[in-house]
Order: sequence, then structure tokens, then C-alpha cells
Amino acid sequence: MSLSIGIDVGGTKIAAGVVDEAGTMITKIRRPSLASDAASIARTVVDIAQELASEYAAASIGVGAAGFVDKSRRTVSFAPNIAWRDEPLADRLEDATGLPTVIENDANAAAWGEFTFGVASHASSIVFVTLGTGVGGGLIIDGQLLRGTHGFAGEIGHVNLVPDGLQCGCGGRGCWEQYSSGTALVRMARDAAETSPDLAATLLRLVDGDPSRITGYTVMEAARRGCTAAIRCFNEAGRHVGIALADLVSVLDPDMFVLAGGVSEAGSLIRVPAEESFRDQQIGGDYRPTIPIVTAALGNDAGIIGAADLGRRPAA
Ligand code: BGC
Ligand code: NA
Ligand code: ZN
Repeated sequence: MSLSIGIDVGGTKIAAGVVDEAGTMITKIRRPSLASDAASIARTVVDIAQELASEYAAASIGVGAAGFVDKSRRTVSFAPNIAWRDEPLADRLEDATGLPTVIENDANAAAWGEFTFGVASHASSIVFVTLGTGVGGGLIIDGQLLRGTHGFAGEIGHVNLVPDGLQCGCGGRGCWEQYSSGTALVRMARDAAETSPDLAATLLRLVDGDPSRITGYTVMEAARRGCTAAIRCFNEAGRHVGIALADLVSVLDPDMFVLAGGVSEAGSLIRVPAEESFRDQQIGGDYRPTIPIVTAALGNDAGIIGAADLGRRPAA
């Protein structure tokens, strides 16, 4: 069975694996923190690919990168949360490994993974939403990954939800990403810990009273233990998810929404407020089938598995 290397380059971590044709991951590695300069991030990606290529007889490489990937699937043109600008990543990987390489947007790759091997394998149109460092989207419409004229379709995290709202890493203001990403969740939780420490007591206990130590996981843990401030942060993030999904349903009419990324691991803490605000906001809701909001089945591996699969079929 032919093997393919999948690499997922997110806003804060790089994860990679070797994947077979059935979407099964044979091995997995993870580099937690991303350097801030473009060249070292590229070097880390190349190192990981060389390491895996030397140990496994892989025939291709697929990369999901957290940014705008050009239509030829070779260059990362721009990334709101990574220093890459016109980064010729496919050339670098092919030069270093000799393996044919496909680059795709990280959320597109993960959507492809869920559509091919995961929770959406029986669907024909899905809106895949990843809530991590940023908010990403992968749109599969009538069985095709929607890529747009330049390859940049599906950048749903940068739709404007709040006019004149918070500053975003993309240069815009009020983007959805500023309200529902893991980064947004941590920002809201730190604010709450500073301004209403009484409501955030459980959360503060988890970080020894130091709000700067709050992470996505501590907010999740605190919410699970019933912390009012932490639950409110998830409600607020979920409410914005529902508002955005209501707009997306009007535009795309999918079979289902798939929520992925670190924030989605909170399960009903994020899904229930998202479902509630989605129901409140969508138009004609009484006259259309309910569109389920489900959680990704492949979890954090979806990006690696999807990228690896796209690597072995450059025309998909
Ligand atoms: C980027 C997307 C990416 C998403 C998730 C956003 O900030 O613009 O390209 O898919 O983050 O990583
Ligand atoms: Na995308
Ligand atoms: Zn933005």
C-alpha cells in the first residue's frame, strides 16, 4: 500500500505523520511551538519531512498550511498567524526529499480528511470549521473542495461579524476569528479573571492565581468543573459560531457543519450555545431540514490525514 506524508502547519504547532491509502496513520510526530521567523518555520517543516521520508517509503507529501495557498498548490501566499509571505514551500520540500508535494490550506486539508475518511464520509456538501489558533474553513460542495479562482476560497474566519470590532492578525477588524478561536477564548478568560475574579475562582485556582497562565485547556477544564466565567467564555465563542453558521447556511446550504480544532474538543460546551444561536439566527428555519452541527471524528489528525491524501492525488 502506498504511503504518503501529511504535515499540518497550524498557527502554533506543526504535526506530521505517515498515512496509508485507507487514511490510517502509521506514525505521528509533533513540534509544539512555532518559531516566529519565516525561514526557521520552513526549515522545521523540511526537517520533519526528511526525517519521515528517511524512515518510511513514502511516495508523496501533502501539507496543510494555516494561510492562503495559491491555486497551483505550491506557495503559501499569505498567513495571518504565521510569518510566511509568498513562501515557496512545495519547491523546498521537493528539493529536499525528491517527493512530489502538494500544499493546501490547513482547514481545506482537514475538511478533505473528514470528508474522505471521517464524520462526513456520507455527505456531499459540508462546511468544515476549525476553531484553533485561528478560525479556518473548508467548504466541500457537491463533492468538490471549493478553492475559488486563486485558491483562497473558504477563508471564513475573516468574515466580518462585528463592524469596527477587534483588530485581527489579517489586518482587518471584527473578524469571526477574534470571537471564536482558541486565542479569543483565552483572551476572554484572562479578561474575566482580571475583572471578575469571584466568578473565575475555579479557573484562577487552576493557574495558581496567575491569569497570564490561562490556556485553552485550563478554560475548558474550569468550564467542566462549573466555573461561571469559563462557561460564559464558551457561550460567547459559541454564540458567534452560531451567527456565522446562520450566514453560511444561507450561502451554501450544506448537509452538515463539522466543528474541529482545539475549541471543539470542549464538546457540548461550545456546540450547545452554537446550536442555540444558529437556530435563532438562521432564516426560514421552520421550513428547511435541520442541519446538524457535528464534531470532527478524526480530531487533530484530520489535517495530517487529509493533507497526506491530497498529496497522493494532486488533481483532487
Ligand atoms: C487563516 C486560515 C486558516 C485558519 C486556521 C486563519 O487565520 O486565515 O488560512 O485556515 O486560520 O488555521
Ligand atoms: Na480554507
Ligand atoms: Zn481577520
